[in-house]
Amino acid sequence: MFRLDGKVALVTGAGRGAGLGIIRTLAKQGAHVVVNDIDPAAAAAAAEALRTAGGRATPVVFDVTVWESVRAAVAQVVREVGPIDILVNNAGNAGSQPMQLKLFVEMAPEDWQPFIAVNLLGVLNCTHAVLRGMCERGWGRIITISSGSGQVARPPGASLYGAAKAGGAHFMRHLSQEVARSGVTANVISLGMMNHLPEEFTAPVIRTIPIGRLGTPEDIGAAVLFVYPIGRPQLPPGRSPRGSAAGSSP
Ligand SMILES: NC(=O)c1ccc[n+]([C@@H]2O[C@H](COP(=O)([O-])OP(=O)(O)OC[C@H]3O[C@@H](n4cnc5c(N)ncnc54)[C@H](O)[C@@H]3O)[C@@H](O)[C@H]2O)c1
Repeated sequence: MFRLDGKVALVTGAGRGAGLGIIRTLAKQGAHVVVNDIDPAAAAAAAEALRTAGGRATPVVFDVTVWESVRAAVAQVVREVGPIDILVNNAGNAGSQPMQLKLFVEMAPEDWQPFIAVNLLGVLNCTHAVLRGMCERGWGRIITISSGSGQVARPPGASLYGAAKAGGAHFMRHLSQEVARSGVTANVISLGMMNHLPEEFTAPVIRTIPIGRLGTPEDIGAAVLFVYPIGRPQLPPGRSPRGSAAGSSP
């Protein structure tokens, strides 16, 4: 297995759930993990657990939905830890609000905002904050965690969540075409149901899964490594990558 020593990886919403598996995997492979969460205690505890296990980790608290906070936090990370090589857009669901299913006909416009804010605008904010620096250095990895609800119209009551997840995923497809020649990859991992949800949600779903179990945080960590290509772009003779190797932007 390849190593990530010397790489700086920012993982959003990493204070619990799937994010914990992602940061444990990246830290185990040698990356310095910047553990973001909107909840300061969750970010601090997750980073401390990585350090206790022998990894390198720094907690960074910001709300992915607020552009100015994201921009300032990324600039601080670049100054204090180093340029960000890997971004995992993991913060999602309904953000800091509890995830609740509600039919669209019953929703008011203010109910739409949390889903769009964290699952689409949050992805745009964090990606934009790190992208120019990655392109200038000619290397970067961006991975956005999406959901099966962004691909199929299930479950009923998740239309805004599904729409925002589909938007974040399709943005990644476009982005991948724009930045490939700069040595930056953009990928999406769409999760099914995870094992940390309440049993009332998970019990009916487990019965439909042939292997009889839900996803675990470690499964997602492994998937993040799987979509991490090692090589650089191979360009036709005479065509140089976009950007330079000596950029200093975040
Ligand atoms: N849990 C599932 O079954 C499931 C299924 C499919 C996809 N997903 C997706 O996987 C990702 C992780 O899901 P999860 O269930 O592990 O998450 P979770 O809801 O258990 O935890 C998310 C973390 O993100 C933090 N957070 C919330 N809003 C934030 C914001 N605005 N800025 C920064 N941090 C914020 C929370 O404090 C929390 O620690 C999400 O993108 C989610 O949409 C989850």
